[in-house]
Amino acid sequence: MARVLILGGDGYLGWPTAMDLSGKGHQVAVADNYLKRDLVRRVGAKPLIDAPDLHQRASRWQQIGGADIAVFEGDLAKWEFMADCFKAFLPDAIVHYAEQPSAPFSMMDRAAAELTLLNNLGVTLNLVYCVREFAPEAHIIKLGTMGEYGTPNIDIEEGWLEVEHNGRKAKFLYPRQAGSLYHTTKVHDTDLLWFYVRTFGLRVTDLMQGPVYGYKAIDTNDPGLLPAFHYDEVFGTVLNRFIVQAAKGVPLTVYGAGGQTRGYLNIIDTLQCIRLVVENPPPHGELRILNQFVDVLSVNELADLVVAAGRRIGFNVEVRSYPNPRKEMETHYYNPKNTGLRELGLEPHPLSEGVLVDMLEFATEHRDNIDESAIQKNILWSG
Ligand SMILES: NC(=O)c1ccc[n+]([C@@H]2O[C@H](COP(=O)([O-])OP(=O)(O)OC[C@H]3O[C@@H](n4cnc5c(N)ncnc54)[C@H](O)[C@@H]3O)[C@@H](O)[C@H]2O)c1
Repeated sequence: MARVLILGGDGYLGWPTAMDLSGKGHQVAVADNYLKRDLVRRVGAKPLIDAPDLHQRASRWQQIGGADIAVFEGDLAKWEFMADCFKAFLPDAIVHYAEQPSAPFSMMDRAAAELTLLNNLGVTLNLVYCVREFAPEAHIIKLGTMGEYGTPNIDIEEGWLEVEHNGRKAKFLYPRQAGSLYHTTKVHDTDLLWFYVRTFGLRVTDLMQGPVYGYKAIDTNDPGLLPAFHYDEVFGTVLNRFIVQAAKGVPLTVYGAGGQTRGYLNIIDTLQCIRLVVENPPPHGELRILNQFVDVLSVNELADLVVAAGRRIGFNVEVRSYPNPRKEMETHYYNPKNTGLRELGLEPHPLSEGVLVDMLEFATEHRDNIDESAIQKNILWSG
């Protein structure tokens, strides 16, 4: 069993990961400065359900029979705070979720771009040095994004590409061409980690994750333990947004032609992937890159699935095409590989009508909390 420190443990994925690993017998600590809550307030949004703070959730987890989860509150972009977390907890593995995670936020204005760049890279750099100084054996598990690759007109490999040039061959990081400043910080993270893997001999797993959906991460309906679930334009991921839009009775917001295709996964599978990676670390001096998604779907296909699930429970869900505020291809080739996590043992939960109906019922239960004005604010990539 490992001692796992979760950076960004208050987040949509962080808290469920903490409960999941704790429930499987790992010793877990979480660190967060509630930056996400602060930014959500700043853009005038709120989650579908309010999540208690980390101390409250950790004590609720204990009350229902879970083990102790240590809580550190502070800014991980500050060296002293992260160093104190490491000295107090001495992790075997660190799950690094602690970044500003929104593409639209990063494109809002100069100040938002600066916050995103400095925060995301600052936390990653501190992590590298904390591992080197206080936990040199530890395994870094970094959340990257499939968005690092962009949408190239060739198959997307798992992290690396073998190139033949003038009769010679070499392996390189697969070319990255991100579509927002947020995604670009993830590209920089990967570069930074690859540099320090080569230089310090770190052991790192970089997970290229697709957009996550779902609210039920572990088997509990305890409202104090559910993850924050965002549906606003800035912090909601597309399928979670469509579900809330359908529950509120507003048309689904398809951008442009709707052919934008990505790899999606259920939050249950995020937890499974993290657990598999924690329990199967790579050797020192390796940057292991795994593509973390289950279903490949276009935005139009997602919308059609939500319409069909709505019909099943008597909702008349409409779909509307909005002018695309982003700069992205609306129809394109997309063929990413994802065999690595299956080889580690991932048993995927593909998207099904049952899951969509369950999410629709959850959103409908909290329908009164839905603020329609937060759904579409039209943050333009062009500024
Ligand atoms: N949710 C998705 O669909 C998805 C998809 C691909 C990648 N990711 C990546 O996975 C990670 C987790 O995603 P999420 O949806 O849980 O995001 P989230 O914003 O809900 O969680 C991140 C947490 O990190 C914290 N944080 C950020 N900067 C911090 C700092 N300087 N000090 C302390 N805490 C800090 C935030 O307060 C937040 O609680 C992010 O890095 C995100 O980019 C998420």
